[in-house]
Amino acid sequence: MPPRPFPFPLNVGIDICQISRVRALIARNDNGQRLSRLARRIFNPIEQLSFESKLAACRTNFPEDPFTPLAQWMAGRFAAKEAAFKAVRSRRLQWHDVTIQSNASGAPLLVVSSNTASSNSDCDQIAQLSISHDGDYATAIVLAVDSADSSNS
Ligand SMILES: CC(C)(COP(=O)(O)OP(=O)(O)OC[C@H]1O[C@@H](n2cnc3c(N)ncnc32)[C@H](O)[C@@H]1OP(=O)(O)O)[C@@H](O)C(=O)NCCC(=O)NCCS
Repeated sequence: MPPRPFPFPLNVGIDICQISRVRALIARNDNGQRLSRLARRIFNPIEQLSFESKLAACRTNFPEDPFTPLAQWMAGRFAAKEAAFKAVRSRRLQWHDVTIQSNASGAPLLVVSSNTASSNSDCDQIAQLSISHDGDYATAIVLAVDSADSSNS
């Protein structure tokens, strides 16, 4: 007899990202051009605002090396988006389909847009996200509702 399916309509995704690799990408001596290009590619317009304030905070709080804390923060978000790509199996997500925000206490929240071609955000889906970093690695885990199941409710 085959095993019974997992009893809840949930998918899980996990990813890990090396912080020093991100730092090497962003800490170029090119007036921040590479950093801006990468941020525009990975972060959607809503996230760009968080990125800009994180960048400003890193420059203020770590004037001697803003790129290390920024790379840590970005690596957590890369990992979170990759984890979402694994957890959302109903379609192939793009970087901008996933929005990561933080609430007032710093806890991250992940929103998967229903469809980038549509401006209707009523169908956007919240997924559970947790991020952690230690040493040279950032990791993230995402729990998302299996949309094949949720579309019936
Ligand atoms: C959250 C907390 C446990 C982080 O632990 P840590 O070992 O120092 O750091 P980690 O690398 O494991 O985690 C950092 C990530 O945790 C997440 N985080 C921050 N605050 C969080 C919170 N309140 N809840 C959940 N996740 C949180 C963030 O995503 C952060 O990464 P980011 O800044 O790149 O987005 C620690 O900051 C803490 O104890 N905060 C207070 C918890 C709290 O407010 N709880 C409310 C319950 S009433």
